[in-house]
Amino acid sequence: MISIIEERPGDQQAVETLARLSLGNRTTDSPAARMRAGTRPVPGICMVAIENDVLVGTLRFWPITIGYGTKALQLGPLAIHPDQRGRGFSRLLMRQGLERAQALGHRIVVLIGDAAIYARYGFEAALPHGITLPGEEDRNRLQVLALAPGALEGLHGVCLPDTVAAANKRRSA
Ligand SMILES: CC(C)(COP(=O)(O)OP(=O)(O)OC[C@H]1O[C@@H](n2cnc3c(N)ncnc32)[C@H](O)[C@@H]1OP(=O)(O)O)[C@@H](O)C(=O)NCCC(=O)NCCS
Repeated sequence: MISIIEERPGDQQAVETLARLSLGNRTTDSPAARMRAGTRPVPGICMVAIENDVLVGTLRFWPITIGYGTKALQLGPLAIHPDQRGRGFSRLLMRQGLERAQALGHRIVVLIGDAAIYARYGFEAALPHGITLPGEEDRNRLQVLALAPGALEGLHGVCLPDTVAAANKRRSA
């Protein structure tokens, strides 16, 4: 039986191994990875798929800012073990992760990925909104989703890691 649960502290190594198995060097060397630099996964909304006590799927969210400091989440990596693909696990992770994020008051999610995978969850191209990346690479693959009505209105600018929030969290820990 499959369980979709919040990522636990002990899952970190299995999550990182699965992400690397699925995405190779792009987990550490890509615009998505650079958007995570200096930050930690956002607690309460990162999800894992567990089957027979084995971690077979991961979905993480990271803190970013867009433009003049508007807070948002970056989604990813989304990865399912190669032997377990095509069974609906990524759909379950996406649904639960996005529902939790919305329930906790997060308003905007971006990701770098294929529209063919993410349009079904409501993501759309970010570039026509004027939401961009620091460099040219992957700009056309940047997707955005509003979790609250009007969250994208008037919003434009570059997506960057929210290192200020990360530093504040470290100070208060
Ligand atoms: C992409 C990935 C996460 C899909 O996981 P999965 O568990 O096999 O997907 P699901 O079985 O939950 O499929 C959900 C839906 O996505 C569709 N889908 C799955 N992979 C797809 C792909 N590569 N392209 C387009 N659609 C895809 C399925 O057809 C299904 O459609 P439906 O809702 O109309 O039935 C998985 O193949 C994977 O880990 N790939 C390697 C890592 C990766 O590429 N991650 C995404 C980075 S952009």
